[in-house]
Amino acid sequence: MTVTQYLADWRPYPFEVTQTRLEFDLAPRTTRVRSQIGFRRKDTGDLVLDGAGLKTLSLAIDGRSLDLGLIRADQEKLVIPAADLPESFTFEAEVEIDPEANTALEGLYLSGGIFCTQCEAEGFRHITWYPDRPDVMAPFHVTIRSDKPVLLSNGNPMSNTTKEAVWHDPWPKPAYLFALVAGDLVAISDSFTTMSGRKVALNVWVRPGDQDRAGYAMESLIRSMKWDEEAYGREYDLDVFNIVAVDDFNMGAMENKGLNIFNSKLVLASAETATDGDYERIEGVIGHEYFHNWTGNRITCRDWFQLCLKEGLTVFRDQQFTSDMRSAAVKRIHDVQTLRARQFREDAGPLAHPPCPDHYQEINNFYTATVYEKGAEVIGMLKRLVGEAGYRKALDLYFDRHDGQACTIEDWITVFEDATGRDLTRFKRWYTDAGTPRLSLSEEWRDGTLTLNFRQETVPTPGQPDKPPRVIPIALGLIGPNGDEVLPTTMLEMTWAEQSFRFDGLGARPVVSLLRGFSAPVTVSREITADEQALLLAHDTDPYARWQAGHDLALDALIARATGVTDGAEFRHAIGGLLADAESDPAFAALCLWLPGEEEIATTIATRGLTPDPDAIHAAREALARDIASAHEQALARLYDAMDNPGPYRPDAEGGARRSLRLACLGLLSRIDAGKRAGTLFGAASNMTERQGALECLIATGKDGDALVAFAQEFGSNRLVMDKWFMVQPLRTAPGLAVARARELAAPPDFDWKNPNRFRALIGGLTGNHAAFHAADGSGYGFVVDWLMRLDPVNPQTTARMCSAFETWTRYDAGRQAHARAALSRLAAMPGLSRNTAEMVTRILA
Ligand code: PHE
Ligand code: ZN
Repeated sequence: MTVTQYLADWRPYPFEVTQTRLEFDLAPRTTRVRSQIGFRRKDTGDLVLDGAGLKTLSLAIDGRSLDLGLIRADQEKLVIPAADLPESFTFEAEVEIDPEANTALEGLYLSGGIFCTQCEAEGFRHITWYPDRPDVMAPFHVTIRSDKPVLLSNGNPMSNTTKEAVWHDPWPKPAYLFALVAGDLVAISDSFTTMSGRKVALNVWVRPGDQDRAGYAMESLIRSMKWDEEAYGREYDLDVFNIVAVDDFNMGAMENKGLNIFNSKLVLASAETATDGDYERIEGVIGHEYFHNWTGNRITCRDWFQLCLKEGLTVFRDQQFTSDMRSAAVKRIHDVQTLRARQFREDAGPLAHPPCPDHYQEINNFYTATVYEKGAEVIGMLKRLVGEAGYRKALDLYFDRHDGQACTIEDWITVFEDATGRDLTRFKRWYTDAGTPRLSLSEEWRDGTLTLNFRQETVPTPGQPDKPPRVIPIALGLIGPNGDEVLPTTMLEMTWAEQSFRFDGLGARPVVSLLRGFSAPVTVSREITADEQALLLAHDTDPYARWQAGHDLALDALIARATGVTDGAEFRHAIGGLLADAESDPAFAALCLWLPGEEEIATTIATRGLTPDPDAIHAAREALARDIASAHEQALARLYDAMDNPGPYRPDAEGGARRSLRLACLGLLSRIDAGKRAGTLFGAASNMTERQGALECLIATGKDGDALVAFAQEFGSNRLVMDKWFMVQPLRTAPGLAVARARELAAPPDFDWKNPNRFRALIGGLTGNHAAFHAADGSGYGFVVDWLMRLDPVNPQTTARMCSAFETWTRYDAGRQAHARAALSRLAAMPGLSRNTAEMVTRILA
């Protein structure tokens, strides 16, 4: 049964929950859960509780048994008529659940013998009867009985004997923040003294044997706690903070109050097993989950339509954290790259939705790039509009006014209006309207005056035909023909569909450095020559705009080739200047040397109204890379040697920048040295960053046989490292061979497909190989759908998320479209298809 939920239908819950007491007797097949929940009436209405897949043994109100016939199993509800309820009462239930059978990883489940929970968004109803909605908040008191040595829940420990632990969480919270862990775990421990002098015990819990790879997670946690005090004045509020790493997890990590549960890939790291990228993600996600303690937990969401209230803000905060810990310029460019690759793509296709959707069938399908990354961009724009001081004032007011509440985006905007006196009515459209605005610029130059004529336009998205103009902050500067900056960064505010701005008194016609810092999530269309782009690449003072100029130059060269026009030599030429100066800023040089990916080239071609040809795009990118390598072989080789990393590995920004530049050079050189350098580096490297980088080059050149065997021999017992082995092969193999290779890898027994990380590694690796996934014969689509059909009955959430690989299917040629439609229709027609996947396929095919 599919039911659509609408924001317009939200009603307050008619009861307050005064206390939630839970008792767990854990057993793999038969876990007993006893609950005692205190209710107090606030408004008229029946008591409606949520429960899914529960074996209910007994129900009672104030000790009086209830008829089990009140359960409406088909609706996953228990409805107790208002007439049977006093003003205040205790509801009791005893249910039995089966964690071992729980392969969907929602509710209470087992991961490698560890009992753990995942309750966001609606997992708690798989544990017991409860008002499973975020606006019902209560203190929790939890007793766990089990043979497992370590028993954890939210809040502070009350008593802990063998086989029984009691936890109390004094901070009222919704059920989605509940967590329980029981297992054979060991901790690395430390402590943190908060700004008011309270000492907090910190533990990172891992499987015995993994302790030596948990240190970086602990350091990241301590940095996060300190940063949130300094940047936002936010202090931690319990005596202990626990993090647990588990191997089976649908997402990255979860911010349960005082007990964060993490996918082990975002906790465990050592130089030999993790890349620079892995380290940066660990630091960022540890920060993200920790920052949720205030933005998400102390202040939570009223309903799931408000998801981006906590996620957009917490992503924004973790981005600020990473820029403070590492390089702000590099972080901004990385974030723009991810936004374009994932969110712009989503916004341009059948799955487009606003950061604040107003309806859904399955909320798990809305943990998207739009809610997370675009939600963060919208906050970035708000901050640009009200300024640093206005932002700080608004945030202080937000924490002050709403602590302990379940809030809405409306509340959030009101805080900014009250703190700064600005009217944000029109700005709010960023939250409610889907689609990426396209900003066009045309210029007029006369007598020392430059007039900039801007136009904005947003094409219709599903369910939203008309798009009124948005408030767009446009940061720009002007660069004179000699490379000097003649106007430093200036913020223009565009509020109408068309608007002009004038700059007078200019000596010579300058080049506009547009959208500095990527001041708004829009696409840009403007007339600019290759020479002007090269000038910006050489002289712009804004690192993002400077990188973007080079990136556009590369994209134009690639698209010219892929669409049969010969390219100008500007990009190849500009690379020469860049290489000469690369050592002064290795991070920037690396960012410029990595050519735009095939997916981005396809997206850009489609935006220009043409049909992308995946094979031509692949060939064009390979050819340009080869040309660059041949034209600059000596400079690249010199830089490659200069960027070696003597001394012990350190996962910091400086070392990472050097390795990134080294690998960018290696990638280009491998195209002309038959994998010689990559082979040497693979054998010699002592860190996973270079190891994996070299391996990827070897796979792309087809010289990978020995390296893959050696890699598997060395790391065969390390699940996380073997995920890399499963990912890089379908991802980097030449497109014509990749589907066959994925098929071989998927053969039993090594492909443990029920583990979400392993499934995403192999299947996601293939969908990331643009020309292979979109193979003209449909073999890529067919292979992926076969596996989605296999996974859906086991794990609907992960299956549904991976359907988004198909969200661009209508932009390709008729032959590919026919194959994609056939594959998707096969999935749609599968008997017993989950609600999660059904919603995704229906939207994609609509
Ligand atoms: N709330 C988690 C985060 O953003 C994500 C998540 C959602 C994890 C649903 C599990 C399930 O940090
Ligand atoms: Zn989050």
